[in-house]
Amino acid sequence: MSRSSAHSSAAQPMSAAKSGLLSGRLRVPGDKSISHRSLLIGALAVGRTEIEGLLEGEDVIATAKAVRAMGASVVREAEGRWRVNGLGVGTLLAPREMLDFGNAGTGSRLTMGVVAGHPFEAVFDGDASLRKRPMRRILDPLVQMGAEVVEQAEGGRLPLRLRGAREVIPIAYETPVASAQVKSAVLLCGLCADGETTVIEKEATRDHTERMLAHFGAKITSEQHGEHGRRITLRGRPELMPQKIVVPSDISSAAFPMVAALIVPGSDIVLENVLLNPLRAGLVDTLREMGARIEEVSRRDDAGEVIADLRVRASSLKGADVPAARAPSMIDEYIVLAVAASFAEGETRMRGLSELRVKESDRLAATAAGLIANGVDCEIAGDDLIVRGKGRAPGGGLVKTHMDHRLAMSFLVMGLASEKPVKVDDGAFIATSFPGFVENMQRLGAEISA
Ligand code: S3P
Repeated sequence: MSRSSAHSSAAQPMSAAKSGLLSGRLRVPGDKSISHRSLLIGALAVGRTEIEGLLEGEDVIATAKAVRAMGASVVREAEGRWRVNGLGVGTLLAPREMLDFGNAGTGSRLTMGVVAGHPFEAVFDGDASLRKRPMRRILDPLVQMGAEVVEQAEGGRLPLRLRGAREVIPIAYETPVASAQVKSAVLLCGLCADGETTVIEKEATRDHTERMLAHFGAKITSEQHGEHGRRITLRGRPELMPQKIVVPSDISSAAFPMVAALIVPGSDIVLENVLLNPLRAGLVDTLREMGARIEEVSRRDDAGEVIADLRVRASSLKGADVPAARAPSMIDEYIVLAVAASFAEGETRMRGLSELRVKESDRLAATAAGLIANGVDCEIAGDDLIVRGKGRAPGGGLVKTHMDHRLAMSFLVMGLASEKPVKVDDGAFIATSFPGFVENMQRLGAEISA
């Protein structure tokens, strides 16, 4: 099994300094979750799916290459405009080369679900960060569905070789962790089963897979389960019909200019076309509870997703208690929330963050370390992160980013309002999810240098 895969580019140190007010309009790139899914589900529909606004970040490009390696044609027609000629459910081809996902957790895990439904083998690999991330949570249900893990690195990690099922067994699976990736892998494999696949989640997670499968014509239902959960049932072997998909702007990327505008005095910006799916928008609810002035300028529905332009103005923030039940709806936004909390008055307690330990880095430890390096009073208590905000942050620190794009962007945002500049050791991974971050922020007036 090949063991060659690592992000080849050299480290790119960056820094951010106190900025004058931020102003202007910004459309951040397309949603990463929806972009991965549009390529994979497009490949499983027979014929031509057209995608507008695809995120052209490294993570999504890795998924595009994997889809191509499995026989679907994937063509970039213009910036953000892509076409997938899909082969249909259960009819993809065995990839001849290793599937290298770089830094992309979502791409690799969702593709494992697709491969598990096909009677062939594929080798998955990624960079040093992805090789540390747990894959057992994905492989366990896929093995129950008939797939086999032929080879794997210690602890069920990458690189690994997965052999898909000859006959996919439809299962009812209760996810042990709140993870849209686990849910989606099971559903994507379940597409190839003769029968109904059910996923039960105690805490509802982002539902883009369900929405998109329904949009492509699959028979899929989702009902309330307990207080916060969902029970999702998919009928297998549907004929998926190719679609036109317009990818809205990623709220997880919009989060960075949003917090920047809140903490840089005098700022007033508009973030255009932001995805406000209720299972993604927990950050907006939390920031509003903290006193943020975030206004929906227009709200509309597009291909089953809720979208709005958001006007964000500099605000006096106060601390908040963020319940654990909200974590799935803002799981990628805690680092930048911790930055906002540093500039708030009073304590912010973010509860139930165990999943942050297994993201692109151990985000719980790395966030606390970054805050401390910049003179912010904070503490990890069990699975909670506590930030004691003083309305200001001294800054002046060098933040270790551990190959994690969101750590880099969050601490650059901190530097825009802190007393001394904030440096990050490596901004190269920003390109995995937010190409053009530096230029876009500079256009709003941010003092970021690469
Ligand atoms: C994602 C799900 C989340 C999130 C990730 C994208 C998805 O991961 O952190 O960035 O697109 O399904 P988990 O499912 O592991 O929580």
